[in-house]
Amino acid sequence: MMTAVGHGIPGIVAECGGSAMCATCHVYVDPASIGFLPPISDVEDEMLASAAGERREHSRLGCQLALAPGVDQLIMHIPERQV
Ligand code: FES
Repeated sequence: MMTAVGHGIPGIVAECGGSAMCATCHVYVDPASIGFLPPISDVEDEMLASAAGERREHSRLGCQLALAPGVDQLIMHIPERQV
């Protein structure tokens, strides 16, 4: 989320600033990248239920995703709407 906001990527609103309280950073993680991410937490799982865009198998909150050491790219897609 911070990377997207910092680079002006459209479609990542991030209203709560990364507190897992708004779901406006919802992303669809490409299956090729899902193995590089930490498991989803209960809080993230609950918040995704209120996301404006359709929830899918690899839906995540962008603000809860941190790059692990040695991973230099993740592929994500942005829902058609966030609010
Ligand atoms: S920025 Fe609000 S839930 Fe991610």
